[in-house]
Amino acid sequence: MRIVILGSGAGGGVPQWNCGCRNCEAARDGRIPAMSQSGIAVSADGRDWALVNASPDLRQQLAGAAALRPQGLRGTPIRSVLVTNGDIDHVAGLLTLREGQPFDLFATQAIHGVLAANPMLAALDPHLVARREVALDQPFELAPGLAATLFAVPGKVPLYLEGERVETELMGEQTVGVELAGGGRRVFYIPGCASVPGWLRERIAGADALLFDGTLWTDDEMLRAGLGAKTGRRMGHVPVSGPGGSLEALRGLDLGARIYVHLNNSNPLVDPASPERAQAQAAGWQVGHDGMEIAP
Ligand code: MLT
Ligand code: MN
Ligand code: ZN
Repeated sequence: MRIVILGSGAGGGVPQWNCGCRNCEAARDGRIPAMSQSGIAVSADGRDWALVNASPDLRQQLAGAAALRPQGLRGTPIRSVLVTNGDIDHVAGLLTLREGQPFDLFATQAIHGVLAANPMLAALDPHLVARREVALDQPFELAPGLAATLFAVPGKVPLYLEGERVETELMGEQTVGVELAGGGRRVFYIPGCASVPGWLRERIAGADALLFDGTLWTDDEMLRAGLGAKTGRRMGHVPVSGPGGSLEALRGLDLGARIYVHLNNSNPLVDPASPERAQAQAAGWQVGHDGMEIAP
C-alpha cells in the first residue's frame, strides 16, 4: 500500500489567510513548512488511486503529486473519492473535480445527504460521478485491491450545520474513521475524532499505520492564544496532550507507524523545532507534512 499525505493541515491551513499567529507568520516567511488542508491519496497497486477527503487546496495538491498525473491526453489514475465528514475542508475540493471525469464518490448516507443538499455540487455530472452510499462497518472496494471500512468515531455535524445545541461526541454517520486494507497491510485514517474510547484503541491495535487527528496540542490553545472561543473537544477534536489526549490514550499500543495529520495552525507541533514536536517524537509519533509518502 502507498499513501501520500496531500494536505497535513486542518481547516484554514498554515498559513491561514486571516491569521497572524506565530506559526502562520513563520510559514509566510518560509521559516517553517506550510501545510495545506486535509486529505490523503492511497493506492494498493501504485496505479489506481483513491482520494480520502477533498480539500479546498486539492488543485494544487494534485498538481504536485507525481503519482496522480494524467496518463494521457485526458484521464487520471484517481478512481474514487471518499469523504469522512461534510466539513468544508474535506468536501470543497470536490468542486475541483468537475471537469468531466468519471469516478466513484463514496460516503455514508448522512454525508451524501449533506452533499446532495448543496446545489453547487450538481457540477459533478451524475452520469460520470457515481455517488455511492456506504454502510458503517461494511468493507467495500475503494480502488482495485484496496478495501475500506467506515466506522463511527466520536464527532459532530459540520460547523455550518450546527444548531443551537451541539452534540460533540455524536456516534453515527456524520464523522467516520476509515480502515484501509490492501497488499496485506492495514491502515487507519482518522482525521477528526473527539475522544479516544477504549474500543477505538482495541480496534486500531496491531495496524501497520495510524494517521490520526492532530488538530490541537492542548484543548484550550485557541482560547489561550486569543485565536478563538472554542476548545478542541467542542470542535470535535481530541487534543494531543493532556489527560485523555491522544498521546496518553494511544501510548503503548502496537502500531507500525503513528502519524499526526489535520494540524491546526495554533498547534505548536506545526513547528519542527518546537519542544512539543520533540515530545511527540519521543513518544513514537511523526508529524505529517504535505507530500509525505508512506509505504506501510
Ligand atoms: C474542523 O475540522 O473542525 C473543521 O474543518 C472546521 C471547519 O470547517 O473550518
Ligand atoms: Mn477539519
Ligand atoms: Zn495562525
